[in-house]
Amino acid sequence: MKIVCCYFSGTGNTARACEELLKKLEELGHEIALFPIRADAERPALSDCECLLIGYPVHGFNAPAPVLQFLRSLERTQKKTPCYLVRTSGEPLKLNNASGVTPKRILKGKGYAVLGEFHYVLPYNIIFRHSDGMAARMKRGVELRLPADAQKIAALGTSLIKTGPFARFVGFVCRIEHTAMPLIGRHFRATDKCIGCGKCASVCPQGNIHMENGRPKFGKSCAGCMGCAFFCPADAIDTAVFNGWRVNGAYSFLGEPASDDEVCKYCRKSYLKYFHEAEDRS
Ligand SMILES: Cc1cc2nc3c(=O)[nH]c(=O)nc-3n(C[C@H](O)[C@H](O)[C@H](O)COP(=O)(O)O)c2cc1C
Ligand code: SF4
Ligand code: SF4
Repeated sequence: MKIVCCYFSGTGNTARACEELLKKLEELGHEIALFPIRADAERPALSDCECLLIGYPVHGFNAPAPVLQFLRSLERTQKKTPCYLVRTSGEPLKLNNASGVTPKRILKGKGYAVLGEFHYVLPYNIIFRHSDGMAARMKRGVELRLPADAQKIAALGTSLIKTGPFARFVGFVCRIEHTAMPLIGRHFRATDKCIGCGKCASVCPQGNIHMENGRPKFGKSCAGCMGCAFFCPADAIDTAVFNGWRVNGAYSFLGEPASDDEVCKYCRKSYLKYFHEAEDRS
């Protein structure tokens, strides 16, 4: 079967999860194709697609605006092509399931048959920085889940997550992010620490940053992915109202996964339950 995965990713978590999932599907004998959803990327040809995967990070209990724009721009299909959502988030909150509601509705309207959704917890790129031990434990959690998820997709099995009315309401309210982010992003700026390397401009999936006299200038189409601030080698981006929540620097996923005792008090309740679900099964 030809499986096409289109994903949006600001700081690499979703990209990595989708790549790993596709690797497993390729090992199972399927033909795969991976397309980033970026302003400067080629659009995927979906005429011969037999199974579509849509990858995205949860942003404020929703799918990011560029993902919804991408889905709305898809051509209608009469083929009821099977489709799965593949999302990542910084926390294993049930509320995050609200982020699947609008993508599922749009895809259904376009003639796709949404059969399932898969959710992977990976380190936060905003709010606070997880320890490298936590990042490694999360990576292990994903690795343990991927084989069964790939099998499910290969068998075109169903794995839909129900979203209750409260989560739907929270998701609806938080969708304000889609309107607010372009306005907030216009106030991002480079501080005096900027070394003019242009990394922020090259990573921005929205093409929202251009270099002018060796300094980045931010436009009007920010999607709040935090890629610019995360990857800046000089931690030189002032992210306006999100400054106190800025996370800078790629995670090392190579270390020893944090043990239960090393997980901080805040993370203990929800993360340990999420980790154990996969670890106990393996
Ligand atoms: C603007 C913004 C909003 C976010 N909102 C949520 C959220 O509602 N719930 C959550 O668990 N994580 C949230 N996160 C964390 C990301 O979903 C998480 O770090 C994700 O793995 C990042 O994926 P990426 O590296 O592919 O961009 C948010 C991140 C950003 C930048
Ligand atoms: S990535 Fe950082 S240092 Fe490089 S141009 Fe952008 S703001 Fe300046
Ligand atoms: S300006 Fe920064 S936060 Fe906004 S979309 Fe581009 S990389 Fe993401």
